[in-house]
Amino acid sequence: MTRKKFLAGNWKMQKTRAEASEFFQLFTKILGDLKNVTRVVDVAFGVPATLFDACSTNTAGSGVKILAQNVHFEKQGAFTGELSTGMLADAGLAGSIIGHSERRQYFAENDEAVGKKWNALALRGLLPVVCVGETKAEREQGKTNDVVTKQFEASFAHVSVEARANEFIVAYEPVWAIGTGLTATPEQAEDVHKMIRGLIDKHFGKERAESTRVLYGGSMNALNCAELLQKPNIDGGLIGGASLKPEDFSKMVQAALVAK
Ligand code: 13P
Repeated sequence: MTRKKFLAGNWKMQKTRAEASEFFQLFTKILGDLKNVTRVVDVAFGVPATLFDACSTNTAGSGVKILAQNVHFEKQGAFTGELSTGMLADAGLAGSIIGHSERRQYFAENDEAVGKKWNALALRGLLPVVCVGETKAEREQGKTNDVVTKQFEASFAHVSVEARANEFIVAYEPVWAIGTGLTATPEQAEDVHKMIRGLIDKHFGKERAESTRVLYGGSMNALNCAELLQKPNIDGGLIGGASLKPEDFSKMVQAALVAK
């Protein structure tokens, strides 16, 4: 089956509201009516909470999805600094990135928390974009598949049967490739993506494995994305640095539009 490609920018802790508006003006100027684009390729942006409103307004009616970069799994309460799934839905968001390696590394996010976030998002009808990926040392020790399997399965253990029925996306982001300019080769990425699809098959069955998008992230850019997107198990990308400039990111969207 052909899966609709999913190209998501991760803006991390970058951009003011004025810069976000400027981005979308130029992005739309380059790509034309975004509705025609999103009919063929899913386009999303993970943005800071201060930009939820500006990004939703600037992309209204276009089919572009705005995502959070993190969410809390509790419905509400005394959790200073956190946002609930209900708040994301209220802000018009489509879902959230969860388990990004920067959150695992700097904010002690673990697989259990990622699983609870996945569960909370899915139950709220929002899209979880679940990030997994090994460090350089883990890859060098030949542990990539074990690490990714553990991250996926230890998170999945906290997703209820009801929540499992809802769509999710997996983003394979090797930590050594993030922000380093070192991209996994298409073959390295394809091997891990294939393994991840196998995990989805094991836990969700063949049909879900066929329909679930698995994205690659880590120094993906306008020059290397076409080759990565050619691989049968690479269904799109989660893009940091190269998603900040409309000139670069629109090229990547164009590559996804023609990728088979
Ligand atoms: P870069 O594309 O800047 O390497 O970042 C990848 C990433 O972390 C996306 O979530």
